[in-house]
Amino acid sequence: MTNHEKPVALVTGASSGIGAGYADRLAHRGYDLILVARRLDRLDKLATDLSCRHGSNVEVLEADLTTESGITKVENTLRSDSRITLLVNNAGNGKLGTTTDISHEDSISMIALNVTALTRLTRAALPNFIARDSGAIINIASVMALHSLPITSLYSATKAFVLSFSRGLQEELAGTAVKVQVVLPAGTATEFYDHAGIPLSAFDPDVVMTTTDLVDAALLGLDKGELVTMPSVEDLELWASFDVARNKLFAATQSGKPASRYQVASGGSSEL
Ligand SMILES: NC(=O)c1ccc[n+]([C@@H]2O[C@H](COP(=O)([O-])OP(=O)(O)OC[C@H]3O[C@@H](n4cnc5c(N)ncnc54)[C@H](OP(=O)(O)O)[C@@H]3O)[C@@H](O)[C@H]2O)c1
Repeated sequence: MTNHEKPVALVTGASSGIGAGYADRLAHRGYDLILVARRLDRLDKLATDLSCRHGSNVEVLEADLTTESGITKVENTLRSDSRITLLVNNAGNGKLGTTTDISHEDSISMIALNVTALTRLTRAALPNFIARDSGAIINIASVMALHSLPITSLYSATKAFVLSFSRGLQEELAGTAVKVQVVLPAGTATEFYDHAGIPLSAFDPDVVMTTTDLVDAALLGLDKGELVTMPSVEDLELWASFDVARNKLFAATQSGKPASRYQVASGGSSEL
């Protein structure tokens, strides 16, 4: 990147909701953009709007990130375009229902988009970022990464992956200037719920955030250097104590022997 070029952010799932919100705010912050999704008409409209309002150079990439060709297209862009300094892994879906109620196709698609695509795009972006010792990745997880309900088993598991993967990356990259932020939105007013199978109207409006509030808060979290951003949580101490308890529990697993409650009385065998 030369001095007069703007930094470029690649945003997946930019055709609606949180991704479109990131596109707008990043353009406002002076980024040029590469917007990725399947609905080209939406991307084109957003690109025109952002170019007019913010003077950004906006490219669109039509890609289905559950397909090999779609992921490869975006991976190639990330590997070859050295102007890219920010990757927003936002595209995601979450069909809600019990594990047996969700169709085979929907469960495969959720894993492909939320887990496989996010992993592959991260792996495609990182070598350039590490070589330049700069750049950032924003991974959109969910508060469901920390919580499972009977209708969210698979969705929660995919988002727990995003949280764990991001936390590991932060450890890997600790000695570099490359940043990884993982964002855990709670209910946010987007089209997500149209596709999830439960309408947004089923939720108490008081627990649903606007996309603008969510993105502005998450970007402020990035500016503050937060590694884990939970925009709807007022008391940050809750996360801190959760993380301390997690570390303490992990340390307790390193004992090398069964806990006393699993020790069989001498000469006896445990009953089945
Ligand atoms: N809304 C919430 O309450 C909430 C809460 C926590 C986390 N999140 C997370 O936030 C992220 C964004 O979701 P959202 O709420 O903004 O929902 P959304 O409005 O439905 O946006 C989802 C985006 O992902 C794209 N996408 C879906 N399938 C795709 C595919 N196969 N290939 C490429 N792009 C695809 C969609 O574009 P196309 O359909 O045009 O491809 C769309 O741009 C997701 O990761 C979601 O899990 C949302």
